[in-house]
Amino acid sequence: TRTQVGIIGAGPAGLVLAHLLRQRGIDCVVLERQSRSYVEARIRAGVLEHGTVDLLTSLGLADRLHRERMVHHGIELLFERTAHRIPLTELAGREITIYGQHEVVKDLIAAWDGPLHFSVSSVALSGLSSGAPFVSYVDAAGVAQELVCDVIAGCDGFHGVSRAAIPPGVLTVHQRDYPHAWLGILAQAPPSSDELIYAHSPRGFALHSMRSPAVTRLYLQVRPDEDLDEWPDERIWSELRARLDRDDAWELADGPILERSVAAMRSFVVSPMQYGRLFLAGDAAHIVPPTGAKGLNLAVADVKVLADALTSWYAGGDRAGLDAYSATCLRRVWRVQHFSWWMTSMLHPTGDDPFDLALQLSQLRYVTSSRAAATSLAENYVGFPFP
Ligand code: FAD
Ligand code: DHB
Repeated sequence: TRTQVGIIGAGPAGLVLAHLLRQRGIDCVVLERQSRSYVEARIRAGVLEHGTVDLLTSLGLADRLHRERMVHHGIELLFERTAHRIPLTELAGREITIYGQHEVVKDLIAAWDGPLHFSVSSVALSGLSSGAPFVSYVDAAGVAQELVCDVIAGCDGFHGVSRAAIPPGVLTVHQRDYPHAWLGILAQAPPSSDELIYAHSPRGFALHSMRSPAVTRLYLQVRPDEDLDEWPDERIWSELRARLDRDDAWELADGPILERSVAAMRSFVVSPMQYGRLFLAGDAAHIVPPTGAKGLNLAVADVKVLADALTSWYAGGDRAGLDAYSATCLRRVWRVQHFSWWMTSMLHPTGDDPFDLALQLSQLRYVTSSRAAATSLAENYVGFPFP
């Protein structure tokens, strides 16, 4: 078969791109390795920037989001047993939305009536430097298929095949690993605060987030090689209580744990984000540590740039947007990389170095007492306008 744009991966990047292209009259086919039920149940991010919400709204994909989301106007930074509020909307003029990534994915799939093939395997990309690249794969029924495209969008996440299809020597990799990971839980428990709490404590970082008035999302800084078996429910709750404890009256509500996992933390960028007729978007091209709540939002910003460039190209053969795709995306990518690294460095004690600890506390006191510093955090956290 033939299509204009072959999209590898049905995460936020691939699905938003498919809807953007559809809106502009460009054909595409989406190929996804996992089953529909798997991608719809995968618990990940929860904070949407204003720009992400606006884009989904303009695509007519945000009806349920607007009904069910939680709108937040601030976050709390907790350190030395005292909470300090950063009034995001007051300082940066935009609010944030709490709505689970898997809910976004469900909405995007439900509204899609074009070709989207789940449970495909053996996906391989060929002819990337030719005018007619193609994707070979085995469909869910076990039949070998070939999809010939004008361009391929690699939206298949960090462990996908697209980035690996680029010949050696083309990409420069920028990477930083961190000596910690996040243990995340989803709990059947009402949020214990109206806003997110990012907590720095001598026992490590903790984050109180939420999904709805009945469901809490909580994270603990742990070792990168942490074994979930060493974390029975009671240990998770007592560690969360210890790290989120503070001098004013505050209590953490608990409840049955619905989901748990450990996620590594890393910063990663490849440049350029394109090769011949292949364009990488989202986690396929870059990873940020989760502390800035940016991974999903950055994936959506990438595909907005790609859809605009493809629209100009198909409309009149103007290649300028496609040629500049990587450079355009990387400006935002590096701003987000810096912010995510900075939030991570400020909030995760490494334990052994009193100099590092003193710097973290000084920085936390500064961002919670200086309006200029708080505004800098706020404008990055709510997100800069989309390109
Ligand atoms: P993905 O969502 O990874 O989508 C890629 C898709 O491609 C997947 O559906 C995958 O199955 C598919 N795929 C992979 N290989 C192939 C192949 N060979 N062929 C076809 N399809 C393929 N960000 C936050 O801001 N906060 C968080 O709390 C947070 N938690 C996270 C927890 C985990 C475990 C992970 C992995 C990420 C988390 N992130 C978080 C990051 C955020 O979820 C990602 O940045 C976001 O999902 C990026 O979207 P994407 O579409 O680029 O990639
Ligand atoms: C959530 C995840 C994040 O990485 C973050 O910084 C804030 C909230 C969440 O899953 O709710």
